[in-house]
Amino acid sequence: MGKQKVTTHTLSEMKRRGEKIAMLTAYDYSMALLLDKAGIDVILVGDSAANVMAGHLTTLPISLDQMIYHGSSVVRGVKRALVVVDLPFGTYQGDPLQALHSSIRIMKETGADCVKLEGGAEVAESVEKIISAGIPVMGHLGLTPQSINKFGTYVVRATDEKEAEKLYNDAILLDKLGCSAIVLEKIPSSLGGKVSKAVSTPIIGIGAGNMVDGQILVLHDMLGISEQFSPRFLRRYHQLNTEINRAVSSYIEDVKNKDFPNESEQY
Ligand code: KIV
Repeated sequence: MGKQKVTTHTLSEMKRRGEKIAMLTAYDYSMALLLDKAGIDVILVGDSAANVMAGHLTTLPISLDQMIYHGSSVVRGVKRALVVVDLPFGTYQGDPLQALHSSIRIMKETGADCVKLEGGAEVAESVEKIISAGIPVMGHLGLTPQSINKFGTYVVRATDEKEAEKLYNDAILLDKLGCSAIVLEKIPSSLGGKVSKAVSTPIIGIGAGNMVDGQILVLHDMLGISEQFSPRFLRRYHQLNTEINRAVSSYIEDVKNKDFPNESEQY
């Protein structure tokens, strides 16, 4: 792992060399500092902050101001990783000028490197407008959580031919428009591989198999902070909920037993 700042150009080079891209979400300064120190390539300030940070059932309620707060906190903790901030629901769909203004606010007020938005042909004009202002865009296809009310369920997407074909065509379109990367969420592995082969844009998968150019997981899921969420694609690298419970229980016990603070812990 080099010390040089990761740029969108770095991601294209990594795809060209066949080097996989490692990406995780973060929403705050302290976690971003740890991820960057560990050598993560890309940090996504995801609108999953609505779920993970605020306890909402969907990603829809989070606002642009809230995303900017999380984005600027993350950027202050990062030296090397590329930082991508999600455009929240209702700040880009259907109005390219609004999409541009929302993206400009994110870039100016957070210092992030790239914005991410969900959708293909439906948001093509917005993607074009944002890129024309020199702002890198990451796409997001497959299971797009901002459309959960349309889907009605979080099951695997693009399992039928029609939806798979639309996803493929959307990826080709986003590639042509000049997206810097595309996230593919919860789709068959074979389709992930097919899309990755067809485009020069780096493809980052979450539940899209191992034939894509990189992987992303939600930090709180892979660290085992959140307990309930267990999709097949999730590998837990730790059980932090157990560790935190143990530490907090010990602290409570020590306070109640008048064992904390001891002589050396006071002035
Ligand atoms: O908001 C998010 O965390 C995301 C990832 C699941 C890709 O969009």
